Amino acid sequence: MSKRYTITAALPYTNGPIHIGHLAGVYVPADIYARYLRLTGNDVAFICGSDEHGVPITIKAKKEGVTPQDIVDKYHAIIKESFVDFGITFDNYSRTTAKIHHDTAQEFFKTLYDKNEFVEEVTEQLYDAEANQFLADRFVTGTCPKCGNEEAYGDQCENCGSSLNATDLINPKSAITGNVPTLKETKHWFLPLNKHEDFLREWILKGHKKDWKPNVYGQVKSWIDDGLRPRAVTRDLDWGIPVPVEGGEGKVLYVWFDAPIGYISSTKEWAAREGKNWEDYWKDDNTKLVHFIGKDNIVFHCIIFPSMLKAEGSYILPENVPANEFLNLEGKKLSTSKNWAVWLPDYLVDFPNQQDVLRYALTANAPESKDNDFTWKDFQARNNNELVAIFGNFINRVVVLTNKYYDGIIPEPSDFATIDEETLAAVKAYPAVISSSIERYRFREASQELMNLARLGNKYLADEEPWKTIKTDEARTKTVMFVALQIASALAVLSEPFLPFTSTKLKGILNSNDNGWEDILTKDILISANHKISKGELLFSKIEDSEIQKQLDKLEASKKANEAANKVTEPQKEEITFDDFTKLDLRVGTILEAEKMPKTKKLLVLKVDTGIDTRTIVSGIAESFKPEDIIGKRVTVLVNLAPRALRGVESQGMILMTEDEGGNLVFVNPDVDGVNNGLQIS
Ligand code: 2FM
Ligand code: ZN
Repeated sequence: MSKRYTITAALPYTNGPIHIGHLAGVYVPADIYARYLRLTGNDVAFICGSDEHGVPITIKAKKEGVTPQDIVDKYHAIIKESFVDFGITFDNYSRTTAKIHHDTAQEFFKTLYDKNEFVEEVTEQLYDAEANQFLADRFVTGTCPKCGNEEAYGDQCENCGSSLNATDLINPKSAITGNVPTLKETKHWFLPLNKHEDFLREWILKGHKKDWKPNVYGQVKSWIDDGLRPRAVTRDLDWGIPVPVEGGEGKVLYVWFDAPIGYISSTKEWAAREGKNWEDYWKDDNTKLVHFIGKDNIVFHCIIFPSMLKAEGSYILPENVPANEFLNLEGKKLSTSKNWAVWLPDYLVDFPNQQDVLRYALTANAPESKDNDFTWKDFQARNNNELVAIFGNFINRVVVLTNKYYDGIIPEPSDFATIDEETLAAVKAYPAVISSSIERYRFREASQELMNLARLGNKYLADEEPWKTIKTDEARTKTVMFVALQIASALAVLSEPFLPFTSTKLKGILNSNDNGWEDILTKDILISANHKISKGELLFSKIEDSEIQKQLDKLEASKKANEAANKVTEPQKEEITFDDFTKLDLRVGTILEAEKMPKTKKLLVLKVDTGIDTRTIVSGIAESFKPEDIIGKRVTVLVNLAPRALRGVESQGMILMTEDEGGNLVFVNPDVDGVNNGLQIS
């Protein structure tokens, strides 16, 4: 039965382009869901837009010496284009600087104000006297009182996800001047979340616990169990939506108050354009509201926004909030500031027209229930071993053979053998299997079921061998090719949510766009005999090792650049006398043996011939050298350093090391002249 859905995807901050973490965590799963619901005949509003207020944007503008408006204009355009490029089918992509949004957010605030849903209070807030600025949100960092993370922000700790008030931070520091803030009185409006605790407990903990993802449910439960506190929803900033009530002059709405209202204003913009009634999508109990977000947004979508909606009184509440965990990149946290990311515009330069490969790799490895790692090797394997070798290979065989044997005209089948009937019946089962996974927000499972359908096709061809029967049994070959073409048709439809560009190409190759999701389940014939298909093109192509290496090199370069930018030059140590220096007994030695210290990452246990004796030295160089590569190396050894035990092994001296121009660790090698060595010993 057709239903109405409002699907929202977290509004991205417009202070940089979009990277693979955003795509994997929010936009690809949301798009799969929206496409699937449309394909199965539902009424869908898939809503997003740019989140253009908030401190990160002001900080970026300050850094670049431009206005916040310049920053949001630039990145709104880049982000919007990336979404189009990657086939994310928002029905509307708005922006929170739009007039309709300012009006909607102010009206929402005004309604709560008039209903006395806020607590108005003068409190002491953090203040930077030098910058003449109150320090809220990302203008202040400090230690999280919940988990001890030293880089928590004034409104949230990204490490433990806790939502914070700036005054909660331990050792707060201004992000503008680095100063320790003072306290200054100011008036703000607070949403008394404590007042909504009972409702939240009833609604989430009692009402939804069975179908919400365990990571979301668990976080929300622990916050509610800890007790909720009033939360300021206004700020003393100049970039944002002016507070529309008396006493609000010079103040703006907190970005997390206005941003989720952006879902509503974006829906209004869309409805006005399409001649629809926006209220059907936000105020009708029969509409299902689903928020796709990353895990750092859970508190805002499961506690604060629902409390706002409830307090307003006329809105529906989310049916589900399928938040994803985080995606890491090559074992490290994705980071915009450290440029440890794969930016979508860059990806498309290096892999033009290969959006589906990234969509697939990110879906097959989506961080649905735990943080996951994106590696370029896995990306290559997903492409080469699955998209090329399974999906692409099956379609290519079907298309090439149909053209070769029948000039592209689908042959008439003869009687079906048992294997044909079983295969066609198996195809019919796929829509329900994939639907069930998607409806439970298990997109990686769903993508693997799609690949299983292609596997089924490959196996069918491999077992029935039409390339052999063509020489002996013309009728059988026609039947086999007919059945294989039915599988190809099913793939063209069922792949659409996951691989939309491929699905379009495949429908073009098959010259058929007639089937819907339900047809795969109900129709006996998806593509008829005598229908002509085209010559086709390869759907996927192999990604070579050199292409992957190029990406790894890029990451390495960005790691180096970041290290160089953050390199702290240690100040010179206290002066020593010449006599102190002559106490050092430096000898030239040779490494005789080397092995890794078990259960450590950094330590090598070396046997070194010092010219006086052979001794054991434990050296922290295992991340830079393989044991087998350093045997026989001549090195400089400090031999009269007092022995000390490292992990139970006594180290009797120290190998001198330095860095080369690229920042790599190298031995102070007596055979190389002192200049290259970086250290002169005479
Ligand atoms: O975390 C973020 O990137 C926020 N800009 C998400 C906002 S979601 C919403 F509520 F608008
Ligand atoms: Zn924390």
